Amino acid sequence: MLVLAVESSCDETAAAVVADGGKVLSNVVASQVEIHARYGGIVPEIASRKHIEAIGPVVSEALEKAGIASSGVEGVAVTRGPGLVGSLLVGLSFAKAFAFARDLPLVGVNHLEGHIAAIFLTDHPPVFPFVALVVSGGHTNIYLVRGVQEFKILGQTRDDAAGEAFDKAAKLLGIGYPGGVVIDRLAKDGDRNWWPFPRAMRESLDFSFSGLKTSLVTALKKRAFREGELPDLVASYQEAIVDVLVSKTIEAAHREQVKTIVVCGGVASNSRLRERFKENAVAAGVEVLVPPPSLCTDNAAMIAVVGNWLLEAGRRNGLDLNAVSRWPLDERCDQ
Ligand code: KG4
Ligand code: ZN
Repeated sequence: MLVLAVESSCDETAAAVVADGGKVLSNVVASQVEIHARYGGIVPEIASRKHIEAIGPVVSEALEKAGIASSGVEGVAVTRGPGLVGSLLVGLSFAKAFAFARDLPLVGVNHLEGHIAAIFLTDHPPVFPFVALVVSGGHTNIYLVRGVQEFKILGQTRDDAAGEAFDKAAKLLGIGYPGGVVIDRLAKDGDRNWWPFPRAMRESLDFSFSGLKTSLVTALKKRAFREGELPDLVASYQEAIVDVLVSKTIEAAHREQVKTIVVCGGVASNSRLRERFKENAVAAGVEVLVPPPSLCTDNAAMIAVVGNWLLEAGRRNGLDLNAVSRWPLDERCDQ
């Protein structure tokens, strides 16, 4: 089935055309990063307005790049949550209108499931069951994935998400937005053992990152670091995040006796996280699969994969489909 997918849950307006849930014909992402960078974080009201401006041209570009007319689309998938409701509504309204005008089936997709599904667009798709780490700006969750739409939550953050920990640190240090990208780059030349940042909740599969930010504030107070030490500081900070993400996910795979781990979401594009997973996987006897960075950060191709599964299974949503800010993967959403 030729699926047009639309994604607008945060600050990226995205559209993609994917054939049979596996062949990406186009994957267009219009980022608002430069606008929000001025404020050091996403301003929801601005995000919604920018989505409204971008959605039409982004969908047209996706169709054009795929080399199909809108009449060639066979089904429409759209992110309905979790995310910023004002942003979600723009994509949702557009997708509904597109489907209604052409009498096409429409289905709403969970953004987190989309992140996990991105791995099915690679040359090495996993077989079920596997453990998935979804690590983004809003979520840090470990799941056991038993099959399509069969999730069991194994661990989650009790406070900030890992992406938030990156973004908040970068804001505190005044080094730019989004923090993960800037820290990833700066940390490459840094000493990862320069400062002993804490690793919280060692015994649990749950995460806590809010203390890490506090310890960064404390570190800055204790020691006035010189500019040349910035790479060391951020490399140590990044290592603390990476350490807990890697060790808890591998521990989850051991506990569930699963041999495959999928790492996804914006933070999965972090080069040190990818490197550490690769290193530790060998010793742990597990296989770690990570999509390429362009499929880790928000995009619509990943939404099309789930959309295709659901549409092929006969799932349909009506024009009353609503946006939801919160939608745990292991809960049905009948709203
Ligand atoms: O999945 P995503 O694009 O959007 C959400 O669903 O949240 O993730 C965005 C998050 C941001 O917090 C950003 O700082 C982080 O992903 N991120 C990174 C990197 N690239 C993006 N974090 C660490 N290293 C990166 N290279
Ligand atoms: Zn995301």
